[in-house]
Amino acid sequence: MTIKQALSRARGILAGNNIEDVPLECELLLRHALKISQTQLYLDLDYELSPKQEDAFWRLIKRRLNGEPTAYITGHREFYGLDFYVDPHVLIPRPESELLVETALGLAQNHPLFTIAEIGTGCGAIAISLALSLPEAKIYATDISAAALKVALLNCQKHGVIDRLYLLQGDMLDPVPEPVDLIIANLPYVEESELAQMSSAKFEPLLALNGGSDGTEMIRKLCCQVGSKLRPGGCLLLEIGQGQRRAITAFLHTLFPNGEIKVVPDLSSIDRVISLSLTTSKPELANAQLSVQDYEPEGPFDAKKVGETSRGAAIAAIANNPRQNPQGNKG
Ligand SMILES: C[S@@+](CC[C@H](N)C(=O)[O-])C[C@H]1O[C@@H](n2cnc3c(N)ncnc32)[C@H](O)[C@@H]1O
Repeated sequence: MTIKQALSRARGILAGNNIEDVPLECELLLRHALKISQTQLYLDLDYELSPKQEDAFWRLIKRRLNGEPTAYITGHREFYGLDFYVDPHVLIPRPESELLVETALGLAQNHPLFTIAEIGTGCGAIAISLALSLPEAKIYATDISAAALKVALLNCQKHGVIDRLYLLQGDMLDPVPEPVDLIIANLPYVEESELAQMSSAKFEPLLALNGGSDGTEMIRKLCCQVGSKLRPGGCLLLEIGQGQRRAITAFLHTLFPNGEIKVVPDLSSIDRVISLSLTTSKPELANAQLSVQDYEPEGPFDAKKVGETSRGAAIAAIANNPRQNPQGNKG
């Protein structure tokens, strides 16, 4: 069987299996089985596969048919034109997250970004893409998962940014040692109840997907912390899931009434990135945290009601939720 015939047969097998780009995935899997580049593949379409090579390729196709993502099978994923090493300890970077990088780079044109913190870095794709485009910036990249940070470290070494990208383990902004100009995050935002129907959830880390009961718990938790870790005039960029715009913008508005909030849609016209720019010289959350003390519990936080919730209540709802605040801190 030639390369051309193997590709054609594999396309037929994978078609109709809820795979987004069957031709591309077949090509990536065949290249992985044969250990050849894309150019070699196209130059040698009539190359005759040995029985051993054929066997290796069909075993990969079988794994893909069983739902395992191609990126985990090959150990690679392209993001923002760069190749990243990935394994099942990290989320496979999604194309829509490139919008976060683009938005940050757009911001950098009008606003010097000397220090940046990426929260929940996973394989490091966002932080490393920024480090390569903004060579002057000092970047902190945090993750609660030590296993994810090991993957990020390999990618920092691969892309030569280890001298100015600091990998830190910890919860949200806790490990970031100083206020920064930009906080950027693609935190887990899948509703807990939807995880069971998500095919990739069988393979990708739950820690990278689970956004709690309404999908916004992790994002809201971060929002409550940014006031103390953003420099005056600093900016927060968040990736959000479909349908989360209203809840998150309303929540940010309660926390930062003077902040400027913008929403950026992705190529599918889904609201994907929310930016908050602090316009005041004084971190506003410092005031908000004081009002937590006056809060009377109202029951579980309801994202739909956030517009009606007082600033103190919104923060206290987080502080009182053990899943969002395992240490039981009040702020
Ligand atoms: C949706 S993934 C994003 C990974 C990567 N930034 C990307 O866009 O491909 C979310 C990441 O947040 C991390 N994470 C989850 N909870 C966290 C927390 N409380 N503090 C810091 N990171 C957290 C997960 O381990 C995971 O790597």
